[in-house]
Amino acid sequence: MNTESLKGKVALVTGGAGGIGRATCLALAAEGAAVAVMDIDLAGGESVAEELQDLGATAGAFATDVSDYDATKSALARIRESLGEPLIVVCNAGIAGEPVLFRSEDKANWQRLFQVHVDGAYHCIRETINPMLAAGWGRIVCISSVAAQMGWRGGASYAAAKGALIGLVRTLALEYAAKGVTANAVLPGVIDTAMSREALSHVRERVEAAIPMGRIGQPEDIAQAVAYLCSHRGGYLTGQLISPNGGMWLP
Ligand SMILES: NC(=O)c1ccc[n+]([C@@H]2O[C@H](COP(=O)([O-])OP(=O)(O)OC[C@H]3O[C@@H](n4cnc5c(N)ncnc54)[C@H](O)[C@@H]3O)[C@@H](O)[C@H]2O)c1
Repeated sequence: MNTESLKGKVALVTGGAGGIGRATCLALAAEGAAVAVMDIDLAGGESVAEELQDLGATAGAFATDVSDYDATKSALARIRESLGEPLIVVCNAGIAGEPVLFRSEDKANWQRLFQVHVDGAYHCIRETINPMLAAGWGRIVCISSVAAQMGWRGGASYAAAKGALIGLVRTLALEYAAKGVTANAVLPGVIDTAMSREALSHVRERVEAAIPMGRIGQPEDIAQAVAYLCSHRGGYLTGQLISPNGGMWLP
């Protein structure tokens, strides 16, 4: 159902060119939001923005590496100029990193995972929180992962970075609940996107068998949870962890 509950709002989706990001952009546009598709992949972001425009939505593509604070600030200035102030921020940009056991993990890999996931979220939220507070309304959603709670063999830095996002949203929830700004985390299970496809190529059947629903999730499964949290329907949820995972992890 298209409730258009977000008409007049601008939503920033980082990693908007990717699987979950694109689906999230579509779901937020269906709620009536204007969408800023932010991604390091400009061509991918432009293609999603064009898709949204073809559907009648207001959208634009903004290239940036979210781990670079100055580049993110300048992308935000361009978003403000062309679409308006983003009061909805979905921190979704991410990388899986090379699978490696912790005892062999080098510092550069560890740092890169934190720079993209944690610093990236800091940059986007730090630059938008004050306008949200001034407006008396805001929605922050960080895309974490079941890996933050289950652990992930070969992905210590990924799991640790995704765990940091949980601490971040819970703190934001406490600090700004009284100001109309909510902050929540979505913890996807295994979702069919470019990020997971290669890792799944040889073990897809085994992974599906381990998921009680018997299927790997689709990007839309995550996007609908994000759209709900951002819409007025999700307005009483803050500091929560929502995990669309087909039953593979029951915290
Ligand atoms: N696919 C899964 O199974 C799964 C599970 C749990 C969590 N997640 C999380 O969901 C989010 C989206 O991942 P996805 O599965 O859609 O993967 P994806 O690879 O399809 O999308 C990731 C997007 O992030 C962009 N990106 C990467 N680094 C960036 C940077 N420094 N600055 C800006 N953009 C950058 C990429 O260009 C890409 O468009 C990620 O945070 C990921 O960790 C995915």
